[in-house]
Amino acid sequence: MFKIAPSILSADFSKLAKEIIDVENGGADYIHIDVMDGHFVPNITMGPIVVEAIRPITKLPLDVHLMIQNPDQYIEAFAKAGADYISVHVEASPHLHRTIQHIKSLGVKAGVVLNPATPVDMIQHIINDVDLVLLMTVNPGFGGQSFIPSVLPKIKKVKEIADKNGLNIEIEVDGGVNSETAKLCVDAGANVLVAGSAIYNHENRKKAIEALKKF
Ligand code: DX5
Ligand code: ZN
Repeated sequence: MFKIAPSILSADFSKLAKEIIDVENGGADYIHIDVMDGHFVPNITMGPIVVEAIRPITKLPLDVHLMIQNPDQYIEAFAKAGADYISVHVEASPHLHRTIQHIKSLGVKAGVVLNPATPVDMIQHIINDVDLVLLMTVNPGFGGQSFIPSVLPKIKKVKEIADKNGLNIEIEVDGGVNSETAKLCVDAGANVLVAGSAIYNHENRKKAIEALKKF
């Protein structure tokens, strides 16, 4: 069975604790936290202080997606704040191996992220070292965008590499996931689906999560 990681980017920030408890009670597997810096992506969201505030609210693993330039500078702060996974974009990490080792040295699971136009070959030499590969199915920056189907063959490719090499990694997709596109992603090999608007735009989060889980 695949996992659902609600993105709190689409939650009501004035009631963040309630919004997190709601999805935990509704069957979420991870809490996905979108960190944006206004440089790597055009939007600005939250930093380690928010992760620290969320940590005691939920037992679910905190899946921190860094959409920031110079992620190395902030990895320690996010680890201390209680992140369970920290994922960095290959496009923002010139010393990817060092960055991944840094995350792991802090006892945190490490992920790499590929933008829709970045080829899977970019992670060929790091895939053995990571716990998670995140494939963006929209260009990062905002919730509520449309799914880019040309990413599907990339999901398949990552799954094939993982199987061929006996790698026990999470294959996560992020952006435009709804009850239709969820099936396409899972069929291609994804086992963690991030969903923001498909969950938080609905009053009943439990029903929204169930709709994503059964297609
Ligand atoms: C996009 C973020 C996503 C976003 C997904 O930059 O990384 O996690 O919140 O939102 P939806 O599911 O609405 O596309
Ligand atoms: Zn994300």
